[in-house]
Amino acid sequence: MPELTITPLGYAMGAAVTGLDLRRPLDDLTRRRLYDAWLKHVVLVFPGQPLTPEEHIAFSANFGALDDHDSQAPETLLEGHREILVVTNKHRLGKPSGTRNTGRNWHTDLSYTMRPAKGSLLLCQEKPPVGGDTMWANLTMAYETLSPKMQAILDGLEAVHDVTLVKGIGARDPAIVQAMKQRNPAVVHPMVRVHPDTGRKSLLAGERVSHILGFSEEESTALLDFLNAHATAPEFVYRHRWSVGDIVLWDNRCTCHVALPDFDQTQPRLMLRCSLQGESVGRLAEAAPAATREQMIQTVASLS
Ligand code: OGA
Ligand code: MN
Repeated sequence: MPELTITPLGYAMGAAVTGLDLRRPLDDLTRRRLYDAWLKHVVLVFPGQPLTPEEHIAFSANFGALDDHDSQAPETLLEGHREILVVTNKHRLGKPSGTRNTGRNWHTDLSYTMRPAKGSLLLCQEKPPVGGDTMWANLTMAYETLSPKMQAILDGLEAVHDVTLVKGIGARDPAIVQAMKQRNPAVVHPMVRVHPDTGRKSLLAGERVSHILGFSEEESTALLDFLNAHATAPEFVYRHRWSVGDIVLWDNRCTCHVALPDFDQTQPRLMLRCSLQGESVGRLAEAAPAATREQMIQTVASLS
């Protein structure tokens, strides 16, 4: 058996792990080495691991309990294995797949639920000849490179995450979208998270955030646009060019990611995802939307 080797792939994050057969159970020492490598490199790539669904689930469980995907439309889960979400542009059960555009804007998995995922393990089963890449942004770096004054402002802020901002959701079957909304009412999360394992702070923003609590709509949009542009700058990003049989494990507690539409959509792409259950940190958002600048001006005018 070759030796377990961890090779860094990018400056911001990413490392390839070779010398392991993931079909076999991990011993305690190997599990600990992988977990430490995960914390250090944030995104781990395991090439050449075409696992069966059972093996994928068993390997994922080394990193935490699995999410049961209660938040997802049932028809997007693998038959007989609800721990696996099927991300594909191939027809499913004779219909266009509901996940054909999954992940097309910068997001942190399941941030629109009370329990954003701890991590995810995505296995590439089929891919187009070119493209279909995924990018991750390191949100610890993003936070740590903000000025102390901006960090202090963000430390006290919360934002609303909304499933209806999943890009392309409008193209899905309206009944399924309605059920997704009912299952996932808008939730509030802090804009700065403390990583439970490393103690480091990271920014939680992304393109599924509707607004910052207490800010006017315009203030919120301006700050979110700045933060999202800052966080996803190329120097904080690892871009993965998939090969069939790659498994990528990412730490969802300190990253966001995007699935690029950089491929010929007539070519099949099929990815299987296990999600690690996160801590329950959110709370339900109140229905009130952010006030607009115009409304603020009118409120002040009526007082004076
Ligand atoms: C996901 C996701 C990215 C991709 O499964 O969480 O965002 O490239 N997928 O398919
Ligand atoms: Mn995702």
